[in-house]
Amino acid sequence: MFNFSYFNPVRIVFGRDTIAQLADLVPTDRRVMVIYGGGSIKRNGVYEQVMAALNAHQVSEFAGIEPNPCYETCMAAVQKGRHEGAEFLLGVGGGSVLDATKFIAAAIPYQGRDPWDMVTGKAPVTTALPLGCVLTLPATGSEMNINSVISRASTRQKVPFKSEHLFPRFSILDPATSFSLPMRQLANGVVDTFVHVCEQYLTYEANAPLQNRQAEALLLTLIEEAPKLQSEPDSYEVRANLMWCATQALNYNLACGVPTDWATHAIGHELTALFDLDHARALAVVLPALLSHQRRQKADKLFRYGCPVWGLADLDHESTIDNAIERTVAFFHSLQVPTRLSDYGICQSDCREIVARFEQRKTKVGEHQNIGAAEVAAILALAA
Ligand code: NZQ
Ligand code: ZN
Repeated sequence: MFNFSYFNPVRIVFGRDTIAQLADLVPTDRRVMVIYGGGSIKRNGVYEQVMAALNAHQVSEFAGIEPNPCYETCMAAVQKGRHEGAEFLLGVGGGSVLDATKFIAAAIPYQGRDPWDMVTGKAPVTTALPLGCVLTLPATGSEMNINSVISRASTRQKVPFKSEHLFPRFSILDPATSFSLPMRQLANGVVDTFVHVCEQYLTYEANAPLQNRQAEALLLTLIEEAPKLQSEPDSYEVRANLMWCATQALNYNLACGVPTDWATHAIGHELTALFDLDHARALAVVLPALLSHQRRQKADKLFRYGCPVWGLADLDHESTIDNAIERTVAFFHSLQVPTRLSDYGICQSDCREIVARFEQRKTKVGEHQNIGAAEVAAILALAA
């Protein structure tokens, strides 16, 4: 096992009717700005619960954070927050709202020229307003981590950044908020969670049997629970299990002491930036192709994955790996999530810009840092 340092101070408040606890979780002596998206929280009763809980607080709001939150929109929130003297931010929504809230928290007190510099890494995040979250879409794990992914419409970029200043003070996870999600978003959430686990599990052996089994526990739970979204659409327990899986998949517990990949995400972000694919849908296109391309480097883990996760006991090594990748694809298809670029009308020549971006960056990704522009081109060809 590799050396590691793990720190995660996020208070998780999980369960039914927990939004009312905002009354105590949000400090009463701070001006609060509530940040949300396109209005789903107004239609499903979450907005009312939040405002009722904050009735003793001094509250303003910023609405309109879009999926794959844009720097341009976030900057409008930054102006508003500065103007009103916001002292605490509350993000209410899915990963996009939470990520936007993190960026806004860092940008409001930022003294430099342009807060975008913090996203690109040109300037460090040295401070941020305190923030809290009410999660309404289980998927990204943003509720319990330090990541934020911000897009810039003008340059068609989508860039992840992170800082320990961006840990939420708390996150409220009421699984009942997910009942209003359309099947497409629920499926996206399962796929994103699944891929988060794979990025930390399907690498190479590091003598970390506990982390292997933690990853397998998450994958098995997803495989078991996801079909129930259709067969038991009213089950609170199913929603609760999927929500907790999503949080556990990206609070970096799984990454302790083991190598991690993240190449699927790096390529997926470019697909979203250029072709507007939903985050999870971009991952579902890239992951199977990447596993096939890297099957030699990932052979031990892919073989292992085939056994406890997909129950492939009696096959030889290579057939187990083939089957494990095929089962992964079939799982995504069972959720009506396509796995080919052609499903979105994207052809190889459309992908030249993605390869050019990797070429320009020079850095390589993957657990062996062996995936550069040429490999990205090959992976996208396999995903055609
Ligand atoms: O904007 P509203 O009206 O709220 O509608 C949203 C949005 O249209 C809707 N929605 C959310 N909760 C709902 C609901 N509709 C009905 N009922 C509810 N309870 O769902 C749509 C999608 O929301 P979004 O927040 O965009 O989805 P998701 O949670 O999948 O977040 C995706 C973003 O997170 C980033 C992605 O790149 C993408 O930008 N990620 C963040 C990560 C992190 N911070 O660690 C890691 C991930 O890998 C990912 O990159
Ligand atoms: Zn993701």
